Amino acid sequence: MEKNPIIIAIDGFSSSGKSTMARRLASAIGYRYIDSGAMYRAVTLFALEAGFIGPDGQPDAAALEAALPHIHVDFEPQPDGTQHTMLNGVDVEAEIRRLRVSNVVSPVAALPAVRHALVAMQKEMGRKRGIVMDGRDIGTVVFPDAELKIYVDASAETRARRRFKEMIDKGSAVTFEEVLANVVHRDHIDTTRAESPLRRADDAIAIDNSNMTIEEQDAWLLDQFERVTNAK
Ligand code: DC
Repeated sequence: MEKNPIIIAIDGFSSSGKSTMARRLASAIGYRYIDSGAMYRAVTLFALEAGFIGPDGQPDAAALEAALPHIHVDFEPQPDGTQHTMLNGVDVEAEIRRLRVSNVVSPVAALPAVRHALVAMQKEMGRKRGIVMDGRDIGTVVFPDAELKIYVDASAETRARRRFKEMIDKGSAVTFEEVLANVVHRDHIDTTRAESPLRRADDAIAIDNSNMTIEEQDAWLLDQFERVTNAK
């Protein structure tokens, strides 16, 4: 790791490919990678299992807020170099990616108490810098002082196609239309919620990766990283 490690914030819509970009960049430069969306998903899974999500998909805000001190989310490194999301000591990595969580995560992530608790944990994770974190509000709220901020964009159709392929590969029985509807619905909630909606930070560099290969994205990101660290 560089002598003066920095913070890299990568924000964007769901399935914009930002997690892949963030994970690969972190591994190339020897930084820690944190998927902040996984933390919102883990809290959502907890809420589902505790019966705090009504039949209408809306969370019981008071019950969830009261339970927050008992919800511990962290990440456990795996032998293959990836990391798994842990909810109160249990590996929930596969469970949090399922549609039953995706379908109700946005209203949970819109709750101010949930955001405050997770943002505090995220700030703590970045205290020593040397971190790449992806999410919706990383450059605007969690690390407004991040040295490098990236805002990833791609059309809803492109993103739904990616998510659909991922889910089919994992054996989920979903249709493309279901996945597209979920993407569009979540975009709407994520950009219009009152509490830290998804928006591009004024000092973030935007990238539309709809027509880029993974290798092109890697090279572009590494260039941005080198530009910032060389200028320091
Ligand atoms: O990136 P993702 O699809 O795994 O995110 C899951 C949900 O969590 C999504 O509805 C947006 C929300 N989220 C958020 O509000 N803030 C973040 N920093 C990360 C995710």
